[in-house]
Amino acid sequence: MNKYNLDKEHQITNKTLFDNRRKIMKSMISLPFIFSSNLFSMPSRQKLKFNKDIEYSTNEETNTIKQITSYNNFYELGSGKRDPMLNANMLQTNNWKLTIDGLVEKPLVLDADDLIKKFQLEERIYRLRCVEAWSMVVPWIGFELKRIMDIVKPLSNAKYVAFQSILDREHLPGQKRNILNWPYQEGLRIDEAAHPLTLISVGLYGQVLPNQNGSPVRLIVPWKYGFKSIKSLVKISFVEKEPICTWNEEAPNEYGFYSNVNPHVAHPRWSQKRERRIGDFRKRDTLMFNGYSKFVNNLYDNMDLKKHF
Ligand code: MTE
Repeated sequence: MNKYNLDKEHQITNKTLFDNRRKIMKSMISLPFIFSSNLFSMPSRQKLKFNKDIEYSTNEETNTIKQITSYNNFYELGSGKRDPMLNANMLQTNNWKLTIDGLVEKPLVLDADDLIKKFQLEERIYRLRCVEAWSMVVPWIGFELKRIMDIVKPLSNAKYVAFQSILDREHLPGQKRNILNWPYQEGLRIDEAAHPLTLISVGLYGQVLPNQNGSPVRLIVPWKYGFKSIKSLVKISFVEKEPICTWNEEAPNEYGFYSNVNPHVAHPRWSQKRERRIGDFRKRDTLMFNGYSKFVNNLYDNMDLKKHF
């Protein structure tokens, strides 16, 4: 064995050792990383059966389950971004009933089991753009609101749809104070409600909704600011007149009835031109109708969107 071989062997041994050490180090680094991203201590929830939608889903990277469940707006559970996660167990979801009534041929009451068994569920990966200039991408699971409309059959004088969240002053910490005029209410024009993008969501990331995201059933309207996507729904009513919407009632000059995502119309206190995707450092441009223009443009033909913001 010459010096050269010895050296070579020495090098090989060192390289193997080095590689092994690297592997061990890497696994030590990735362990806490795994726990801090997708597999963090989120209790497992009921799994859902669903098809994957490709027509309306974005192929952008989804936010992690941790981001989606720890940075929320749900004033019933508190007004801080972490409050809904910290107070999640204060939302009582047992024996949930969703009533669909008003100007319809056949009113309907659905319980939580109906909501996940009566309808063919789909995964829709949607961008959600909050009025506060941040956004997320979420793999929602649900079905089109239109499926409910096909069952209840709205009458011809039904022009709008009114949505109402749970009222439970005894348990919900945010409802012990009048920070908003409870219950939280929202509304859509009937053609917006019937649009295929408008989703009734019962889950995300393959399982039923976590409480902080609006368990057991919520609305998702991806081309409008996030506050239109009302959580923990107890009532959907078909009505003739434009319904009261909580944030519009609270500050009509700041939050319009339509609240379509529109980079050309600033909020009175900040621009809506850019947004920060949760988890990103850099800001990105906000897209008209949150990037859903080709699907929803025609809903607003001949409307002045600066006036009807
Ligand atoms: N629904 C109810 N009932 N109460 C709320 O406070 N906040 C809205 C909307 N739905 C809210 C609500 C706002 S401002 C946003 S941005 C979205 O929920 C946030 O949904 P997420 O927490 O699932 O991301």
